[in-house]
Amino acid sequence: MKRDRVLVAPSVMGADLSRLGEEVALVESSGADFLHIDVMDGHFVPNLTFGPDTIAAINRTSDIFLEVHAMIYNPFDFIEKFVASGADRIVVHFEASEDVEELLAYIRRCGVQSGVAFSPETSVEFIPKFFGKTDLILLMSVHPGFSGQEFISETVDRVKFVRQELDKAVEDGISPCLIEVDGGIDDHSAYSCVEAGANALVAASYLFKGDNSVEAMQQRIALLRG
Ligand code: DX5
Ligand code: ZN
Repeated sequence: MKRDRVLVAPSVMGADLSRLGEEVALVESSGADFLHIDVMDGHFVPNLTFGPDTIAAINRTSDIFLEVHAMIYNPFDFIEKFVASGADRIVVHFEASEDVEELLAYIRRCGVQSGVAFSPETSVEFIPKFFGKTDLILLMSVHPGFSGQEFISETVDRVKFVRQELDKAVEDGISPCLIEVDGGIDDHSAYSCVEAGANALVAASYLFKGDNSVEAMQQRIALLRG
């Protein structure tokens, strides 16, 4: 089956937060497909990051598509706030809510795209039932909470499984969705994930380390696309 172009999303966690506006402008002018914003609540994951005010601030300075990765319990309480802040897609964790299907439907009713994320230890058998009900399946390739961790290599087989099952479902008339991988993505892990069938990649450390010229950022994005 012919594959789509691979989408690359820089994660704000890797940016120099003292120059957030400049960093967002850099990835936007370097051709990043969208921006990934990690929202953490200190409960679902042992870390705190950004909330609706930061999303709104980014949205005021940039036109780039904003994906919110909600690593929070009770995500329902924040959906409207994320939408009002300018989120274009809201990704909730399978492990963080009782009724994920209802949550995904609600996100779409709010007028934005939805996604559902799966932590590395969650069985992939839970994933196919979400096909046709969401815009994106996110496979975590590190334990959620921090950037700069090592890629968990078992993720590659998880991507293969999701790709096979999704292709079968699409042949049966189910609408397609993106398969995204997040965590420890560099040019090597990106290659394996894309080979396995991923078509969206999130990267923090890899994209924001080193030379921060537009040319260098463009090159790193191109290396991830493969
Ligand atoms: C981790 C976050 C990731 C993180 C990726 O919980 O969901 O998006 O920012 O960081 P790297 O690319 O450094 O692993
Ligand atoms: Zn993330």
